[in-house]
Amino acid sequence: MPLFPELRPRRLRLTKSIRDLVAETTLTVNDLIYPVFVREGIDEPEPIDAMPGQYRYPVEKVTDLVSRALELGVKAIILFGVPPAEKKDHIGTPAYDPKGPVPKAVKAIRREFGEEPVIFTDVCICGYTSHGHCGIPIEKRGRKLIDNDSTLKVIARMAVAHAEAGADFVAPSGMMDGMVQAIRGALDKEGFTEVGIMSYAVKYASGFYGPFRAAAESAPKFGDRRSYQMDPRNAMEAIKEVILDVEEGADILMVKPALAYLDVIRLVKENFPHYPLAAYNVSGEYSMVKAAAEKGWIDEKLVTLEILTAIKRAGADLILTYHALDVARWLREGY
Ligand code: PBG
Ligand code: ZN
Repeated sequence: MPLFPELRPRRLRLTKSIRDLVAETTLTVNDLIYPVFVREGIDEPEPIDAMPGQYRYPVEKVTDLVSRALELGVKAIILFGVPPAEKKDHIGTPAYDPKGPVPKAVKAIRREFGEEPVIFTDVCICGYTSHGHCGIPIEKRGRKLIDNDSTLKVIARMAVAHAEAGADFVAPSGMMDGMVQAIRGALDKEGFTEVGIMSYAVKYASGFYGPFRAAAESAPKFGDRRSYQMDPRNAMEAIKEVILDVEEGADILMVKPALAYLDVIRLVKENFPHYPLAAYNVSGEYSMVKAAAEKGWIDEKLVTLEILTAIKRAGADLILTYHALDVARWLREGY
């Protein structure tokens, strides 16, 4: 085995064309899913303070945004609904209202663009409940609990409402046990056998969701989400969560957040290479980059592309990211 001076790894880094030839990872616009907030009762897009560059869109104007995304080559979106506060209740009834912001937006997008954008919808009740939890709180043996099985009924109805409106994939994010099975069963019973499920299979209880909860007005009013979302200290438990969701019928798996969990992304990909794996580059990851870039401390384009490339390198096939439109522009420019 020759060593230096015969062996010179730098030969493969000499020019951009050589580097491109030997690159192991490619980030493309085809990998990106753009998260979009749709709100009832507003006329103009409303800037989200904690997420510079992101807006809550009125249902009537969401097609403008989708049209911009499609022009840039971003062909997949995931919708989050923001219902009026006065409609929220204990069980999240507005979550399955067929006239709610998400079904309305799905229909409007389909009407305008046909089958082109892949439409995912987030399926969870936290944005629709008065208490902000992803499940229904009950009192049992003198203790407050987030009840698993009654929640399944609500999210199954929610998934059906989204499928009925025309969603391609529903994406349960509430970390309830059996959520994929409950949704698959409900979709099939209603005849929506072609509608897929992207499961937030491995979702951690994370501080990185802060800006999202402000945007979606979905922060829990008491306690936290640690009784249903995963403990950040656990990696192997991700395998258990994934096995269950695969057996329950998930089509696409997800790890969330992404950047602080690259090891988990790799672990899931290595153990389930035959399933498409999504990673959610969450709100806090986005806003940290934006804030530091605004201060002039980091180069936004360089850092964003590096982070997203690292998420792919770790094993993600798809990336949900608020940077999607910027990235599409940057990739077009070449970097
Ligand atoms: C709701 C949901 C959350 C996110 C996606 N769906 C927040 C939460 O679990 O509190 C987070 C997305 C982000 O931070 O960008 N279940
Ligand atoms: Zn939730």
